[in-house]
Amino acid sequence: MRNIIITGGAGFIGSHVVRLFVNKYPNYRIINLDKLTYAGNLANLKDIEDKPNYRFVRMDICDFQGVLQLMQEEKVDGIIHLAAESHVDRSIKDPFTFAQTNVMGTLSLLQAAKAYWESLPEKYEGKRFYHISTDEVYGALQMTHPEGIEPPFTTKASSGKHHLAYGEKFFTEELKYQPHSPYSAAKASSDHFVRAFHDTFGMPTIVTNCSNNYGPYQFPEKLIPLFINNIRHRKPLPVYGKGENVRDWLYVVDHARAIDVIFHEGKIAETYNIGGFNEWKNIDIIKVLINTVDRLLGRPEGADMDLITYVTDRAGHDLRYAIDSSKLQRELGWEPSLQFEEGIEKTVRWYLDNQEWMDNVTSGDYQKYYDDMYKNR
Ligand code: NAD
Ligand code: DAU
Repeated sequence: MRNIIITGGAGFIGSHVVRLFVNKYPNYRIINLDKLTYAGNLANLKDIEDKPNYRFVRMDICDFQGVLQLMQEEKVDGIIHLAAESHVDRSIKDPFTFAQTNVMGTLSLLQAAKAYWESLPEKYEGKRFYHISTDEVYGALQMTHPEGIEPPFTTKASSGKHHLAYGEKFFTEELKYQPHSPYSAAKASSDHFVRAFHDTFGMPTIVTNCSNNYGPYQFPEKLIPLFINNIRHRKPLPVYGKGENVRDWLYVVDHARAIDVIFHEGKIAETYNIGGFNEWKNIDIIKVLINTVDRLLGRPEGADMDLITYVTDRAGHDLRYAIDSSKLQRELGWEPSLQFEEGIEKTVRWYLDNQEWMDNVTSGDYQKYYDDMYKNR
């Protein structure tokens, strides 16, 4: 029996984590604490909303008193913290909101957990504060090979597995933080606060840093759902810069599976990187998306390549992310369950089959925001 608050459970990754925990652990009580910003959507959780072990509470993580009362009322012994402002382009336009939610919100949540857990006779025993972070805090990697071989090339991870890579260096847990965007700076700051609460007060914390996620229920301001929707409706595909930037993609359900393993078996005060050794140049992934959407809609494959529109680059655009998740694979035995080809096919099918979900989240304010963003490029 555990009573767990999952923050940001109505968002993209959070909804997959809530679903996994509610279904897999019927004897746990899962409390989804979410403010429901533009990115939060209870439609993401329709299939589990009536389960007896699930409760939704609309609340801001910055609401110290509210969170403290909820923790007392529900006798919370675990927090899995995903709530955040998550989109880099928005952080460039409005860094204050990112500092407020990602830094002050995380600090407020830590303070509430500290106040409640320290008031109990057993204090921190059996408790866990698990903070979900990003690989972007490590900065950006170069695309180089020691002997000048053109990337991508085959290389071997410290786990012993071969994979394709665009450079010889990877993000490992020991790397110094070097965030570049207001989003990653705010996430880095929140990671530091979480570790500080372990080192100063003895709070049992864990931090994980994951690579780019893709899959169902992702808000269509992010590359993959945005482009699937635009291809479907034959709208331009705004490729930043030359489309040469590299991202490392993981199917969202595999991230949720990793969170489950780490929450239960991860060592206190440790950091684990999560990723599937799956690097792609943006332009290559975009071509896969066009071919897949075209095929599934019965159009000639590649017919929509002319939608590719090169636009002004993102300010401070990080060149390459690549996660080394060997530690997690070695120590806790986690591995991604899906190959990318399978994951992307499932994902495209999901968005094409769920046009109503897409129409709901792209109406109103978001549509205006998106139109403004695109006009300005
Ligand atoms: P998202 O934007 O889809 O969802 C964020 C959720 O947080 C939404 O439901 C929103 O309503 C909620 N929220 C925002 N501010 C809040 C507040 N003040 N109080 C309560 N709830 C609030 O984000 P996501 O892509 O699912 O990312 C979830 C977490 O995982 C974030 O911490 C992000 O930094 C991290 N992460 C994301 C990725 C990725 O590829 N998406 C990769 C690695 C790490
Ligand atoms: O690496 C993990 C991070 O991945 C998470 O921490 C963030 O929350 C998440 O948003 C994501 O950040 P990115 O900036 O990498 O994701 P995004 O989908 O915004 O962009 C992916 C790449 O595609 C990036 O190189 C920018 C590019 N891009 C994006 C958009 C939205 C385009 O070329 N055109 C676009 O319209």
